[in-house]
Amino acid sequence: MLSASGVRFARHQTPGTLRDLRRVVDAVFPEDESRLIGMEIGAYRALVLEAQTELNAKDFVRRLCQEVRDDIVEVIGEDRFYIQTNLYLRAARPESGGSPEAIGWHRETFYGPNMERSVNIWTP
Ligand SMILES: [Fe+2]
Repeated sequence: MLSASGVRFARHQTPGTLRDLRRVVDAVFPEDESRLIGMEIGAYRALVLEAQTELNAKDFVRRLCQEVRDDIVEVIGEDRFYIQTNLYLRAARPESGGSPEAIGWHRETFYGPNMERSVNIWTP
C-alpha cells in the first residue's frame, strides 16, 4: 500500500545487496571523510562517477529491484515489468561550501508523458 504521498517503504529481502553495494562505494571513496569535504568539486564528481560506473557494471539495479520485487509487483499490480538499468548515485557532501550537490527528491512520474506507472527506487 502506498501512502497518500505515493511513497512506500520496502525492506530488502536479504542484506547481501546493500552489503555488496557498500563495498563498492567504500572502495572508491576515501576513508578519511575530511578529504571529501575539502575536495574540489570536479574531483569529487569524478569519484561519484567512478562509483556509479562500477555499480552499473555490476548490475546493481537488477539486484536492488530483486530485493524489493514483491513490493514492486504489489504496487504496480503486474508481475512483469521493465527495468531502467542505469543506476544514479546521488551522492552529496554535507558541507560542500559551494553550489548544492544534492539532487532533490523526485519521481520520474514528474517528467514526460507515459511515466504515470513508473516507479522510482531510492536506496539510502
Ligand atoms: Fe530521476
